Amino acid sequence: LVGRWSALSEAAPVRHDERQNLWQVLDHRSVAAVLADPATYSSDFSGLTPTQPDFETFRQGNFVGMDPPEHRKLRTLVSQAFTPRVVAGLEPRIHAITAELLDAVEDRDRFDVVDALAYPLPILVIAELLGVPASDRGLFQEWAATLFGGDEIGDALDMSDVERALEAIAPTVREMNGYILEHIRHHRKHPGEGLTSKLLEAEVDGVGMADQEIVGFVALLLVAGHITTTALLGNAVLSFDQYPEAAALVRADPGRLPDAIEEVLRWLPPFPELGRRTTREVELGGRTLPADSILMANLASANRDPARFADPGTFQVRRNPNPHLTFGHGIHFCFGAPLARLEARIALRQLLDRFSCITVPNRREVEFQNPAVIVSARRLPLEVR
Ligand code: HEM
Repeated sequence: LVGRWSALSEAAPVRHDERQNLWQVLDHRSVAAVLADPATYSSDFSGLTPTQPDFETFRQGNFVGMDPPEHRKLRTLVSQAFTPRVVAGLEPRIHAITAELLDAVEDRDRFDVVDALAYPLPILVIAELLGVPASDRGLFQEWAATLFGGDEIGDALDMSDVERALEAIAPTVREMNGYILEHIRHHRKHPGEGLTSKLLEAEVDGVGMADQEIVGFVALLLVAGHITTTALLGNAVLSFDQYPEAAALVRADPGRLPDAIEEVLRWLPPFPELGRRTTREVELGGRTLPADSILMANLASANRDPARFADPGTFQVRRNPNPHLTFGHGIHFCFGAPLARLEARIALRQLLDRFSCITVPNRREVEFQNPAVIVSARRLPLEVR
């Protein structure tokens, strides 16, 4: 993948992919321009993809797939609840959960870091954020495994495959929707301190969020906030293994960890592409795109654009500034970026502090998720001392 992305950034910035009938947008400038202009490049694909009743609930609060003004309304509401203070307040719990997870493998000299840490940590943090009972956290893990474990959607070739994949996971989605709705009703009756109660209190011009919108937003947190952070943690471990001199620099001065994490994000973006739909005919990168074209804003190749990054093909933990586009850009800029960065700093710091030597002993044992869905290890066995 890395080789393919590097090659892409040197080619024409905007190209038509005949086979898939979509446009590939590859250079940093054009990708940023697309993401900065939601009036021309819409995020709303609702008329184009198959519908499935259980997934419709998701759509209502799932503002990543909405344009202004609906997007602005929901993002403003959610911003009242999910504040920087709420994220900062999670810090002690992230430390404690990470320590608990690593305690469980403390006396082992081999373990799978995805299983032990990268997979459970973000889902446990989201459960903490929402204030679900500890005993129900296993459920969250089961749902995440069903929703993101399969390859059906990533391998879908046409809309009938997508429809079949949606049908297959619909019962899990139904169970999840029901659970979240119940959780919201409980918080309506017994308001508390957590994010759920804050979401229920949020208002813009006297109008709050409907229960179904909260369900959709919580589902978005589960999707956007879980697998991406799992991916980041695994990608960091992989990058440090592949570039031991970079890992040594971070060990020598842990103050470099935040810059190192930005470089991992640039190097291996969990979502390498973001889809958009043109609302009118538009000129981009010297090409004319008709109205209603589908385009893929390729974050991975933009992150390797030599016009924006010196030596883009080298992994440099000291790179700063690092204007990667891995969290997107513009109105949809990742809402959870501060949380993802915080989790990565805590988890990687604890890993490096506990083990003086961390290696991937056998690259052939490493398994990846379907790269059409996400750039992430699903199995990453380590040897530690
Ligand atoms: C949006 C990436 C972690 C919540 C986005 C977008 C990207 C992204 C690229 C923009 C999508 C678009 O423009 O179409 C990532 C990466 C993460 C991460 C790489 C981890 C390394 C998180 C976490 C949360 C989160 C931890 C929440 C707990 C969201 C939400 C949006 C979003 C709610 C929608 C924002 C909007 O539409 O206004 N993320 N994300 N993300 N992300 Fe993240």
